[in-house]
Amino acid sequence: MSTQEKSITGVEVFFDANDIIVSKTNLKGHITYANDVFLDIAGYTEEEVLGKPHSLIRHPKMPRCVFKLLWDTIQAGDEIFAYVINRAKNGDHYWVLAHVTPSYDSASQMVGFHSNRRVANRDTLTDVIIPLYDELLATEQAGDRKSGLEASTRKLTEFLSAKNMTANQYFLSLA
Ligand SMILES: Cc1cc2nc3c(=O)[nH]c(=O)nc-3n(C[C@H](O)[C@H](O)[C@H](O)COP(=O)(O)O)c2cc1C
Repeated sequence: MSTQEKSITGVEVFFDANDIIVSKTNLKGHITYANDVFLDIAGYTEEEVLGKPHSLIRHPKMPRCVFKLLWDTIQAGDEIFAYVINRAKNGDHYWVLAHVTPSYDSASQMVGFHSNRRVANRDTLTDVIIPLYDELLATEQAGDRKSGLEASTRKLTEFLSAKNMTANQYFLSLA
């Protein structure tokens, strides 16, 4: 079953402002580590997440252009900050501000990725991120898989250029 076909309850769940949701992946984005906060909020056991693609918790309201930006950035060796809505196993959802970075071994080879996530500011979500993501998603869905992603990526790039900011500068300016 694809993520899009999984049920969505529309119920938002929350975690504590002092909590950090942590996961690590290999270079393909398959989960190699998840902390207890991750498992608790997402409603999975460790066994259920280890080795699975991180898209396991993908929520259908997330625009694909944000994940494209995430992957382009981390594969280039850079860090990224991004707001993400995730889907728990039971279909509930939770918003996070994620910081994703590459991990390196002692020979400076990129060996995987690491994500830390905190509670996202509610006003930022309501005033900026949700309307922006809704617009990006609508743009994406107006085209086919390829042209939709190109159009939403263009829209996100234009949005950031108009602010004269990189994605990280912009997302952090809101935090
Ligand atoms: C370290 C790391 C953490 C990630 N965390 C999430 C996450 O919390 N939620 C999510 O939907 N995708 C996350 N992703 C992105 C997924 O790998 C994937 O690109 C995304 O879910 C879109 O899935 P799709 O390409 O199958 O549409 C993460 C990727 C990495 C490398």
